[in-house]
Amino acid sequence: MPKVALVTGSNKGIGFAIVRSLCKQFAGDVFLSSRDAGRGTAAVESLNSEGLKPLFQQLDINDPESVRAARDFFNEKYGGLDVLINNAGIAFKNADTTPFGTQAEVTLKTNFFATRDMCNEFLPIIKPGGRVVNVSSVMSSIALNRCSPELQARFRSNDIREEELVG
Ligand SMILES: NC(=O)c1ccc[n+]([C@@H]2O[C@H](COP(=O)([O-])OP(=O)(O)OC[C@H]3O[C@@H](n4cnc5c(N)ncnc54)[C@H](OP(=O)(O)O)[C@@H]3O)[C@@H](O)[C@H]2O)c1
Repeated sequence: MPKVALVTGSNKGIGFAIVRSLCKQFAGDVFLSSRDAGRGTAAVESLNSEGLKPLFQQLDINDPESVRAARDFFNEKYGGLDVLINNAGIAFKNADTTPFGTQAEVTLKTNFFATRDMCNEFLPIIKPGGRVVNVSSVMSSIALNRCSPELQARFRSNDIREEELVG
C-alpha cells in the first residue's frame, strides 16, 4: 500500500502550504482536506495548476460524523494513516468585540476539543512509525506562562490524564 498523509484545514493558509510541501517531498499520497468541498476542490485545482497532485477528503473536525467517515475511509482504503497533521484552527481578530467568554468557548471548541477528538479517532489507525503533528501557536506558551506555577507544573507533567486536562 502507498504511504498516505492527511492535513486538516488545508484549503488555505498554513495547511495549504504544508500540502504543497508534502506533494513535493513525501513519497506517498497526500490528502488536502476541507470542511467545504467547494473550497477544497478549488484548492486542489490550484495545486494541480502548479503540477502537483494532492487528493481530496471532506473533513470538518467539529463534525463527529465527518471525522469518523474520514477515519473509516483511510482505514479501508490504506489500512490506516502514516502522517496526520492537525492544522485546522480558528482565531478571532484582535479587533473583534465579541465578549471574551464567547471567544474562548468558540476557539476551544475547534482548536482544543475538535483536535482532541481527531486524535482520539485517528490515533488507533496511525501506522507503526507514523507521525502526528499538532499545529499550535505561540499564544499557547504565552497563556501557559501566565498560569500559576502549580497549574503550569500540572500542564507540563508527564502523568496528566485527559480527564484532568479537559477539566
Ligand atoms: N497564521 C498565524 O500567524 C498562526 C500563528 C500561530 C498558530 N497558527 C495556527 O496554524 C493553523 C493554521 O492557521 P492559518 O493561519 O493557516 O489559518 P487560516 O488561514 O485561517 O486557515 C485555517 C484553516 O482551518 C480550517 N478550519 C477551520 N475550522 C475548521 C473545522 N472545523 N474543520 C476543518 N477545517 C477547519 C479553515 O477552513 P475554512 O476556509 O473553511 O475556514 C482553513 O482551511 C491554526 O491551527 C492556527 O491556530 C497560525
